[in-house]
Amino acid sequence: AIQAFIFDLDGVITDTAKYHYKAWKQLADELGLPFDHAFNEQLKGIDRMASLEKILSQMEDGGRSISIQQKEHWAAHKNSVYQQLIEAVDESEILPGIEALFHELKEAQLRIGLASASRNAETLLKQLKVEAYFDCIVDPASIANGKPAPDIFLAAARGLGVHPSSCIGVEDAEAGIQAIKGAGMYAVGVGDASILSKADMVVPDTSKLTLTSIKAHWSQVGE
Ligand code: G6P
Ligand code: MG
Repeated sequence: AIQAFIFDLDGVITDTAKYHYKAWKQLADELGLPFDHAFNEQLKGIDRMASLEKILSQMEDGGRSISIQQKEHWAAHKNSVYQQLIEAVDESEILPGIEALFHELKEAQLRIGLASASRNAETLLKQLKVEAYFDCIVDPASIANGKPAPDIFLAAARGLGVHPSSCIGVEDAEAGIQAIKGAGMYAVGVGDASILSKADMVVPDTSKLTLTSIKAHWSQVGE
């Protein structure tokens, strides 16, 4: 049976994906590098440094001339822009249906975990006033291989004391769906089904995430 749900944060619990986009766009503009929503799709779920590397790979030399110190400076700069953008986030920015789903999960005595690559995730859970729902919040700094590697989802399952095959992972990013599937979990995608084609089930937006509908889909593949 299903024992736990493991959530991504950005783009699933709250729409901070748009703030990450804005902050990266500002940095790319400052550096004179191209950046649009299509490019941003590749950055979703990817950690801060790996995201910066992808942006810099568009430089003529692929970013190879840039020192580590310079990269760290730009990554910190992006983060300070991002932190200003999320300063005013409060519970009004929880995406539709998410809190209702948390209630349903608690009622059904299922465990809830967080597998976000963001080092700002815990702050955001506090601002959204949903931290208390979580039985395990993985510290992304403790994870060697970021998404699409399965490590962060496996760490969440371990933290929850649940076998991966009894976990449902919820993600809005292609890299995140890959991570969930690599961990041997059932993957629920939120967003565009053509981008999230590796998911077991895709809903167009969070208002469609209900335990009943997920259980119905899950019972067709699992036990
Ligand atoms: C999530 C988001 C990414 C973001 C990453 C790191 O995976 O989807 O867009 O770059 O977290 O976030 P951070 O807050 O640590 O820079
Ligand atoms: Mg996300």
